[in-house]
Amino acid sequence: MKNAAEPIRSIVVGMGGLTRSMLRSLTQKPWQEIAAVVDINPAALQRAADAYGLPEAALFRDLGAALQQTDADVALINTPSELHYSQAKAALLAGLSPLVAKPLTNNYANSCALVDLAAQQRLRLCVGQQMRYFRHYQVVAEFVAAGELGSIEQIFFFNAKPRHQAKNLAGFEQPVLWEMTCHHLDCLFGILPMLMPEAIFCDGFMPSWSVYDSACMINAVLRGQGGERLLYHAGYSAQSDCYGLRLEGSRGVLRCRGLHMSKDQMTYEFARRGESFAEIALARGRPPSQPWSRFFARWHEYLRGGEEPHFSGRKNLRVLAVIQAAIESLASGAYVDIADPLRQGNTA
Ligand SMILES: NC(=O)c1ccc[n+]([C@@H]2O[C@H](COP(=O)([O-])OP(=O)(O)OC[C@H]3O[C@@H](n4cnc5c(N)ncnc54)[C@H](O)[C@@H]3O)[C@@H](O)[C@H]2O)c1
Repeated sequence: MKNAAEPIRSIVVGMGGLTRSMLRSLTQKPWQEIAAVVDINPAALQRAADAYGLPEAALFRDLGAALQQTDADVALINTPSELHYSQAKAALLAGLSPLVAKPLTNNYANSCALVDLAAQQRLRLCVGQQMRYFRHYQVVAEFVAAGELGSIEQIFFFNAKPRHQAKNLAGFEQPVLWEMTCHHLDCLFGILPMLMPEAIFCDGFMPSWSVYDSACMINAVLRGQGGERLLYHAGYSAQSDCYGLRLEGSRGVLRCRGLHMSKDQMTYEFARRGESFAEIALARGRPPSQPWSRFFARWHEYLRGGEEPHFSGRKNLRVLAVIQAAIESLASGAYVDIADPLRQGNTA
């Protein structure tokens, strides 16, 4: 492990929207340094050079050249997901710890292979799963952990948005599961650490007004090993914002309503068993959170030898195993068992 006095030096790959949002937080951290940036688009490289004060020698159009010519510790891989596997593998083979945008890859077997390679190389593979650090998830997680709902046996999670332009998702297979569901599941596991997925039934469809090329609206039932049921809906072709979470436990129900998972505003209502709903101010006195700032603080601890976070590549395989089973269920029209990659120990 690197001496704590030395900065963590990064190669940043893909200078698009996600990188801009991450770097607003990361560049505030005194322990980091941007060593190089990579993008196939020269204009994006120039914008990065201007924004972060980088010399010409730190700008690359090819990851291989950047890996060869740069002394760095980590690679932030924020390119389209079909590139994640090959770029994360190249970084690992060059001795860097990759932080890969979600989804880790859009292929479960490739994600398992990356996790295994990281273990062999003794490097720290992570996935950019920051959403659970939003205040609206944190306060619900605390309410659940305090036992206010008792044993939670039914969960409703609905998040669909009116995104009526396919843009970067044109031609994308299973855009909802790979792009959205991976966030949703990670946040749900943050709220419900006891939920161990066992099987899933998944249906997908395209409304007549859809602009997507494959199922852009997903409805699923997930069964947990403890008998819990998650009723899940997500998609890109809603006619207006749809965002709700309802947790039904032995002691009562929590109902949360918002606009979208990335908007840190929610109303919370609680009904004790057999009673009516009343609003509760779960977030009172808590300022909105800055998810990337908290994420990077945790990532830094891990890079310096601290405890494995929820967003390690290995732990994130649980999310990807559910998505893999959902895709199989879409094809077969039946319930599909969900692998438990952490229990099976196929990852170190
Ligand atoms: N965690 C989050 O909240 C969040 C939010 C948005 C996007 N994402 C994820 O981040 C990833 C990137 O999304 P984005 O919105 O930043 O996309 P984007 O299109 O804005 O940026 C991607 C960048 O990658 C560059 N690029 C393409 N091919 C490349 C290559 N071979 N080598 C180097 N650079 C290359 C493009 O020129 C572009 O600048 C996706 O996996 C997406 O799912 C995560």
